[in-house]
Amino acid sequence: MAKFHLGILTPLVVFLLFVAEVDSTWWFLSQIQLSAVGARVICDNIPGLVRKQRQLCQMHPDVMISIGSGARVGVKECQFQFRNQRWNCSTIDRDASVFGKVMLKIGSREAAFVYAISSAGVVHSITRSCSKGDLLNCACDPLKRGIGRDIKGEFTWGGCSDNIRYGSDFARKFVDARERRERDARALMNLHNNRAGRKAVQKHMKLECKCHGVSGSCTIRTCWLAMMDFRRVGEYLRSRYNGATEVMMNQEGSGLIVANKNHKRPTRSDLVYFESSPDYCLNDEDTGSLGTSGRQCNKTSLGTDGCDIMCCGRGYDTRRVLKTTKCECKFHWCCYVKCQECTEWVDEHTCKAPKTDTRNKRSMNHRRNRTFLINPHP
Ligand SMILES: *[C@@H]1O[C@H](CO)[C@@H](O)[C@H](O)[C@H]1NC(C)=O
Ligand SMILES: *[C@@H]1O[C@H](CO)[C@@H](O)[C@H](O)[C@H]1NC(C)=O
Ligand SMILES: *[C@@H]1O[C@H](CO)[C@@H](O)[C@H](O)[C@H]1NC(C)=O
Repeated sequence: MAKFHLGILTPLVVFLLFVAEVDSTWWFLSQIQLSAVGARVICDNIPGLVRKQRQLCQMHPDVMISIGSGARVGVKECQFQFRNQRWNCSTIDRDASVFGKVMLKIGSREAAFVYAISSAGVVHSITRSCSKGDLLNCACDPLKRGIGRDIKGEFTWGGCSDNIRYGSDFARKFVDARERRERDARALMNLHNNRAGRKAVQKHMKLECKCHGVSGSCTIRTCWLAMMDFRRVGEYLRSRYNGATEVMMNQEGSGLIVANKNHKRPTRSDLVYFESSPDYCLNDEDTGSLGTSGRQCNKTSLGTDGCDIMCCGRGYDTRRVLKTTKCECKFHWCCYVKCQECTEWVDEHTCKAPKTDTRNKRSMNHRRNRTFLINPHP
């Protein structure tokens, strides 16, 4: 049995051992397919986990699978929410920093979003696994029993209420473990945004009810509390990203305060950041920007996906491509829909590359000075 496992795991383990610890995080679980038997074996070899996380991994290998899928859900939602932006939440395959090392180094708005959405993904995923009965130590919310009450009156708790408390608690223990080791400004920022992510899931619960009573009169209701679709959480956090608050360390170095006195204090649900973002126009490893050359843009849109904004004024190339779509769909009795395939020529616009070649660009695009005024560990 052991030999069988090693045989399967050796290539992975060897690869994992070569990944540097400093630039890696638990987000890397999003790129590994864990299986229940394998989890315990490889806890020690997954890069990016701190000691507390390895312990949790060893004690709860079943939850690790949910954490991995939660991280994937977070990444996918991040890419959906930012699909029309210059920064599009791209990840790097087989790189334990996942979003690029810069995400761990620069306390930008984008980093704030990434921490919040991945933390939210983990809460959502663990909670869902509890309800599905996939985890040993949790199930539907045991406190949602007996009589409940909402604006329409009394109801009976029934069915399966999502155990958001268990999901949030486990996610907090696991996700926050990395930040609990140091208390610098960046750690405080991460903790705040991780919590904002958990809160976002907690805020998006809805009461679902089934009616009983004479001819569906709904005099008797059975209700349960369910998490909303993760898309809603993504949309909510996206709006928090737009309204994120710039913060800095207070004088005592014990907490974060708002950087601009005219702005309101962030609530626990707000995202916070302390370094400004690059414009993401050019490829620059130092700032974690991939640049937008080659990105598709929309000629008629005035938004961020419009060619003017997306291409940063560099202009765009246009080519005609043959596009296949489903069309003339007809409903057939009963019950399926049959479509034709139509092809049409459409114009596709992609952003031009900057005029200089890559070598020139490096020297022209001199490294920006960063002010690590508030970060004692630059
Ligand atoms: C994000 O943009 C980069 C180029 O800037 C592109 O290579 C990549 O495919 C995009 N990713 C997604 C998920 O759209
Ligand atoms: C381009 O933008 C316009 C205006 O916002 C929109 O109506 C159209 O659907 C977009 N086209 C594509 C291909 O996304
Ligand atoms: C960065 O800071 C150094 C020293 O403060 C200064 O000499 C240099 O001009 C700055 N570079 C940029 C790009 O601002």
